[in-house]
Amino acid sequence: MTDITTGKTAKLDIEGKVIELPIVEGTEQERGVDISNLRAATGYITLDDGYGNTGSCQSSVTFIDGDKGILRYRGIPIEELAEKSTFVETAYLLIYGHLPTKAEFQRFSQLLTQNENLHEDMKYHFEGFPSTAHPMAILSSMINASGCFYPGLLEQTRRDEFAVHAARLISQVRTIAAFSYRKSRGMPIIYPKPTYKYTANFLHMLFSDVYQDYELRPEVVHALDLIFVLHADHEQNCSTSTVRMVASAQANLFASTAAGVCALWGPLHGGANQAVIEMLSDIHRSGDNGSRFIAAAKEKGSGKKLMGFGHRVYKNYDPRARIIKKACDKLLAALNINDPLLGIAKRLEEGALSDPYFVERKLYPNVDFYSGIIMRALNIPTEMFTVLFAIGRMPGWIAHFKEIQDDTKARIYRPRQIYVGPPLNHYVPIEERRVG
Ligand code: CMC
Repeated sequence: MTDITTGKTAKLDIEGKVIELPIVEGTEQERGVDISNLRAATGYITLDDGYGNTGSCQSSVTFIDGDKGILRYRGIPIEELAEKSTFVETAYLLIYGHLPTKAEFQRFSQLLTQNENLHEDMKYHFEGFPSTAHPMAILSSMINASGCFYPGLLEQTRRDEFAVHAARLISQVRTIAAFSYRKSRGMPIIYPKPTYKYTANFLHMLFSDVYQDYELRPEVVHALDLIFVLHADHEQNCSTSTVRMVASAQANLFASTAAGVCALWGPLHGGANQAVIEMLSDIHRSGDNGSRFIAAAKEKGSGKKLMGFGHRVYKNYDPRARIIKKACDKLLAALNINDPLLGIAKRLEEGALSDPYFVERKLYPNVDFYSGIIMRALNIPTEMFTVLFAIGRMPGWIAHFKEIQDDTKARIYRPRQIYVGPPLNHYVPIEERRVG
């Protein structure tokens, strides 16, 4: 672990007792107060509902400055990676901490290819799901099921196998996703092709026919690869914190990331990309120009939110949204698609960014606002959007799992609480209980 102590302290006066708390500082001058000994010294804990002000760990994977709209993986700005890198290279960067050399890249790509096929018995698991099953439920279950075929996973001492398991997971999450889509449509499974690169192979497994391969257009492959790069990590978000939480109990890599998929599914997190398209489609159907929806989203109790807007960390334009918006325009023009939802999204953005409600609360478009429009243009069905987010996020989850696994001082994650339930109470036999 990096030494983040500064030698400075903050003084805390609790009911007349003054204690000094160490001030810590990260690489980018992010400052914090280390309260890890607060309870031992005073009997008090800190309370921070939703962890909005809590640093749960030290991490060297991703840096975000939410006020300035900065995002960097291992120090490299997302804009540079979006322009120059690929998803596979970015995955390596996140997991191993540096851009790969040619030899490292080759070895990593080889591992991905060698591990792209699921164990053949996994096919029977797909049969058990009803055709109405959401692909995120299938994805989470199947990642966990897939882990069962590698008993070495359970032995924490076999860390030498980490590289193979990490590659297996990155490769197979894509195969599982494609198989679950084919199954939901009653279509035969298409196996991966070892000669195809990562993203092209996914499109092939999704869209090829048994008798005819899907035509891979470079702009389509590039747009999807970009989506994966932009989703690859985002520091301590809800699903990554879930992965870290599960990993801190020394659960295996597959179990930890399967839990991450479940967290990601929620509409306040990765599920927002599906919710955005559903929102835009509703607005389109109702003939609203967007203003009625914005009015409803501002009204507490309306049950509506402007999906794809707002972020816990960004109080500025999400840099990923900026890149995706540009890519969206480019792809739709290249494919000659005129999607009315893109026009509605742009109108909503314009309306919200000039509305005091959104301005005062610093609510800007996030990564999910335009990503769904790209995925629609690629013919990805709406219920698969969050699955694509999960494929992209897998390297990030693995990098965070590795941080926990490599930390010799790692402790189980176990927050405390302020109890607000009934005081001491006693058991009453059933015949003596009163109604109400
Ligand atoms: N539409 C309308 N009002 C909003 C929205 C929105 N999208 N987002 C936040 N607000 C309001 C919120 O009601 C609150 O108002 P007030 O101060 O009057 O009570 C204020 O803005 C602060 O919001 P918050 O809910 O305290 O913020 P949070 O940090 O707890 O939640 C969020 C962040 C992303 C869950 C939330 O902004 C939201 O629900 N957005 C819509 C869902 C979405 O797009 N999620 C994707 C997030 S980015 C990708 C990812 O994480 O996967």
